[in-house]
Amino acid sequence: MTSLYPGHFISFEGIDGAGKSTHVDAFCKLMQDRFPGKEIILTREPGGTALGEQLRSLLLDAPMNLETEALLMFAARREHIAQVIEPALTAGKIVISDRFTDASFAYQGGGRGLSIQKLNELEQWVQGRADGKLLQPNLTILFDLPGEVAEGRRSKVRAPDKFEKMDLNFFDKVRQEYLRRAKEDPKRFYLVDATKTPESIWGDLQAIEIKI
Ligand code: TMP
Repeated sequence: MTSLYPGHFISFEGIDGAGKSTHVDAFCKLMQDRFPGKEIILTREPGGTALGEQLRSLLLDAPMNLETEALLMFAARREHIAQVIEPALTAGKIVISDRFTDASFAYQGGGRGLSIQKLNELEQWVQGRADGKLLQPNLTILFDLPGEVAEGRRSKVRAPDKFEKMDLNFFDKVRQEYLRRAKEDPKRFYLVDATKTPESIWGDLQAIEIKI
């Protein structure tokens, strides 16, 4: 995709326990070193705004109807785009988001079974621009690994949230939907083999060529 904004948008994705959060802070520092003149914004979904963080607490804990869940994810995203992402990209900043729309396709679509057509419609609605183009990350780094490896890695320190409590079959479907999205848009995705050691994954992240 040719850039729609002066800034650059990077998302991190993967199933729970894939290790993306371990690397996202270091990746921001790496970007700051590489592009010292650029401001880096680290944000996350669901969340990233005061309203989005309130919705996050509900989404991660309260049981709800699947369509309600998808609509709230996209409502939080609309606010995130309007308040944070679009202004930052317009101002030429580098936005790094821990998850974005691919997570809705993977979790609400793949994992929970919401129709992909409905998700496509929500994506068009929430990310569509006046010129008919779609706001998407310039680069999505997908931490890919089997559900059983991820399960062993998930934090045993804090209580699992609603999604982390799901079974292996759920995470296998989440993973397959992430991989389908990656296949559909190979130029946007960079796949990381997240079964590797953190040192090796870090080497892969450093090797990504980022053209800004
Ligand atoms: P995190 O633990 O990586 O911050 O993500 C929070 C959880 O929210 C994670 O289990 C994935 C889930 N999620 C969705 O189900 N749909 C979405 O659209 C997003 C952004 C996250």
